[in-house]
Amino acid sequence: MKDHEKPNPDPSSGLSRRDFMKISGIGAAVPLVLGPKTIYAAGEEVAVHGPGKAPVVLMVNGKKLTAQLEPRVTLLEALRNNFDLTGAKNVCDRGTCGACTVLMDDKPVYACSVLAIEAQGKKITTLEGLTEGDNLTPVMQSFVDHDAQQCGFCTPGFIVATTHFLQQTPNPTEEDIRHGLSGNFCRCGTYNGIRAVALTKAAKSSGGEA
Ligand code: FES
Ligand code: FES
Repeated sequence: MKDHEKPNPDPSSGLSRRDFMKISGIGAAVPLVLGPKTIYAAGEEVAVHGPGKAPVVLMVNGKKLTAQLEPRVTLLEALRNNFDLTGAKNVCDRGTCGACTVLMDDKPVYACSVLAIEAQGKKITTLEGLTEGDNLTPVMQSFVDHDAQQCGFCTPGFIVATTHFLQQTPNPTEEDIRHGLSGNFCRCGTYNGIRAVALTKAAKSSGGEA
């Protein structure tokens, strides 16, 4: 057994500086790694990918998509640059604006803050996966009806977030909407229209007039 493959003699000690240096050393010594290597760190076997490209398999909108990606590539970059799914927008690229919102195992996430390699084995749904053929979904149509967009950069993320929010909270109050959609920002200030979308959908769901 090679040095770096030996179990940590004291698992309770956590990842020591020495372990870290060993892991870092592997990366530096092997510039192109096609498959995961396994090492022992803190008493556990850990798969180490990269720094070169590694095969990544994602399940997006019910389809299996594959690509060779460096482990640093985000889910957003993979969707837009490798799979031509450009609904999710790259605006802040740091997990603050929500323009890149997609669903991962039916929960909203910022795709710019998830590594593609971490999203393997999860069910990813993008804006494109919400549509019913060429038809707009009721939430999308409601955005149009209420003129709930200007530049449109935030709109795809808001539609994904609003769709999920209304599934979870079919009859929300205005306060519910403010809180439920607070992870998405609109720099054009179309919040009134977006709240009207959520309230209208809520009215329809509860049998009232739109
Ligand atoms: S681009 Fe991802 S949160 Fe802004
Ligand atoms: S419509 Fe421009 S940022 Fe929302």
